Amino acid sequence: MVTQDAVLDALRGVKDPEAQKDIVSLGLIRDLAIAESQVSFTLAFTTQSPASKATMHSMASRAVGRVPGVSKVQVKMGGGQPAQAAPAAPHAHSHGPSKSEELIPEVKRTIAVSSGKGGVGKSTVTVNLAVALRQSGAAVGIIDSDVYGPDIPLMLGSRGRPGMFENRIIPVEAHGMKMMSIGLLVNDREPLVWRGPMIHSFIQQMLKDVMWGALDYLVFDMPPGTGDAQISLSQVIPLSGVVMVTTPQEVALLDVRKAIGMFQKLNVPILGVVENMSYFVAPDTGARYPIFGEGGGRRLADEYGVPLLAQVPLDPATRLAGDEGTPITLREPDSTQARTFRELAAAVRLRLEELAALRPLPKIG
Ligand SMILES: Nc1ncnc2c1ncn2[C@@H]1O[C@H](COP(=O)(O)OP(=O)(O)OP(=O)(O)O)[C@@H](O)[C@H]1O
Ligand SMILES: [Mg+2]
Repeated sequence: MVTQDAVLDALRGVKDPEAQKDIVSLGLIRDLAIAESQVSFTLAFTTQSPASKATMHSMASRAVGRVPGVSKVQVKMGGGQPAQAAPAAPHAHSHGPSKSEELIPEVKRTIAVSSGKGGVGKSTVTVNLAVALRQSGAAVGIIDSDVYGPDIPLMLGSRGRPGMFENRIIPVEAHGMKMMSIGLLVNDREPLVWRGPMIHSFIQQMLKDVMWGALDYLVFDMPPGTGDAQISLSQVIPLSGVVMVTTPQEVALLDVRKAIGMFQKLNVPILGVVENMSYFVAPDTGARYPIFGEGGGRRLADEYGVPLLAQVPLDPATRLAGDEGTPITLREPDSTQARTFRELAAAVRLRLEELAALRPLPKIG
């Protein structure tokens, strides 16, 4: 028997990230109904930002789903004023959500691939996610915003310099996608010293001065850490969401937690976690080795109430494909890696649709 008390107890564990109070005390739970093992309720949002709404929606549904005896949870969104009324975090989208329409009016969704930590596979995930989205028929662009180590041109095998047309930059074409990187504009061995304002104007320029045209997805590869590039990007455009990449071990998770905290402060929805280098399958015996430990990605996802979008095995061919400029998803489309990246793309698409549906509809009249 599922009781109302048990459900409310579970919901008391979910906090409004802005008010820092639990959602039951804040009076957000309405129309709670329990029919045998099925629970439904409405979250009566007020002025929360879309990112907070999304977080609370998924955490509430997960919390109730864990109550013993519950088989199905339906969480409706109620109340609510338009997102513009939400008090934004100090730096977040302070000029209102219309900005991406001004800078990149023909781009439908913007996805950042990030991690607190270096070397966990952000760039690898970026190119393979982009390829998989492209293979599903979408028009895709990539911005390499890792100004410190622009790896995307190498990973996509692009060497040409971008062209210009009427003072605007024509992005490079790579495997059917459009791409821009600082790596295309400077010398390979030239050291780059970047300061905050330069990163900000670089990101702005990548959006304003590049002819992206109509795109379904624009994917950003981010530099490691929680620095100027992440903050600038979330200031310049309202990102549709961020994919957090981690490896399974605890030291990686620490950095990723910091990065998630930063994106939450910036009001960027967390699409979910990709656990990279999850395991290695010995080609001779087929035995599975968890080289970097197990369960880290799942723990992280559960902690923040977001989906674990994919677990990507450690695979020498993936590294080689990156070094040689044809992502594994294209190079070996039948491999486990390729399948995993296609599943990742599908999960990202679904999550973006869910988050878009959570946004309040524009008022008519
Ligand atoms: N699943 C994988 N299997 C094997 N090698 C991988 C895998 N993922 C990434 N690599 C390799 O690990 C190295 C680091 O990956 P990548 O450059 O994508 O990480 P990153 O997080 O973007 O690093 P940085 O922080 O330096 O930008 C690369 O050589 C890449 O080919
Ligand atoms: Mg990288």
